[in-house]
Amino acid sequence: MHTIAVLPGDGIGDEVIREALRVLEAVSAVTGFAYTVERYPYGADHYLKTGEAFPDSALRAMQDHSAILLGAIGDPRVETGLLERAIIGGIRFGLDLYVNLRPIRLLAEHLCPLKGVTPAAIDMVVVRENTEGGYVGVGGNMKKGTLDEVAVCNMVWTRKGTERVIRFAFELARQRGRRKRLTMVDKANAIRPQDLWTRTFEEVGRDYPDVERDHAYIDAACMWMVKNPDWFDTVVTDNLFGDILTDLGAMLQGGLGIAASGNIHPGKVSMFEPIHGSAPKYRGKNVACPVAAIAAAGMMLEHLGDREGAALVEKAIGAALRTRKIPSLQAGAIATDAAGDAIIGEIGTLAAAAG
Ligand code: IPM
Ligand code: MN
Repeated sequence: MHTIAVLPGDGIGDEVIREALRVLEAVSAVTGFAYTVERYPYGADHYLKTGEAFPDSALRAMQDHSAILLGAIGDPRVETGLLERAIIGGIRFGLDLYVNLRPIRLLAEHLCPLKGVTPAAIDMVVVRENTEGGYVGVGGNMKKGTLDEVAVCNMVWTRKGTERVIRFAFELARQRGRRKRLTMVDKANAIRPQDLWTRTFEEVGRDYPDVERDHAYIDAACMWMVKNPDWFDTVVTDNLFGDILTDLGAMLQGGLGIAASGNIHPGKVSMFEPIHGSAPKYRGKNVACPVAAIAAAGMMLEHLGDREGAALVEKAIGAALRTRKIPSLQAGAIATDAAGDAIIGEIGTLAAAAG
């Protein structure tokens, strides 16, 4: 029996997670995936009521679950980034979830903003390092608020941290077997210390002679992803670059409404979430697109060993999009619950067809 920690969080989090949980229920009726859900209240409302963002006890509680499903964090009533750092950062760093896995797949041609690009052309996965780089909090402000202010933010990379994420990406490129190409994305020309990535990539790559080693600087990678998305198979990159590149990737798939991610430490409790934010202005309006949260639940199923369930979720999303039962991934294109219904309907059809 899997136990899933659910953190709906802020803004639209509650609504998109509600649909993800309904889809999970529909899948489990087909595949027999057995699970229980425990909800946690962390987010702006809880913080404003109690002063508690994400206590140590919450992190410890996370460790007792099979996986974590998170909606979205962030609220304009709270200091910028405070909750995101405490909750999302707290879980990523606290559980050492060093891989942020972000698939970029076009499921229906009409959703892509690029002209003449077919689904076959966009099928890549970005492996974003998730515990180092500019996110480590090494730095700060001096003489804050004065004309003499100094702000320092260090990007920190370790050999171990670099190696483990690169190795994960090589394994993934091999296992995906699409182009068997791993593109490393860095900025080691301008940021020389990042040459640690370049050297580690070459060294680790020797263990994977069947995987083609490819390289692009982050600026060029943005350009190539728009110009020639078909080139990309598996990508490995730094924390901040991966953050930026995958918002671009989300648009290639049709929008942030579909982009999902897994924060993973292989063999340990991992966290799954849509990559979009909390969109407070849409809260409670039943207009947010739940597809990304549903896709995140699908990734969680895969991680927990229900391959059949994960495939079912992905096929159902694809079918609902291609038939335009979900016409687009923009907020308001279809009601949140109706989008959930559409995907659950496709799960029923797929399950019936499989007999
Ligand atoms: C993401 C988000 C987070 C990040 C924010 C909310 C801290 O943008 O998951 O991509 O920068 O990692
Ligand atoms: Mn982001």
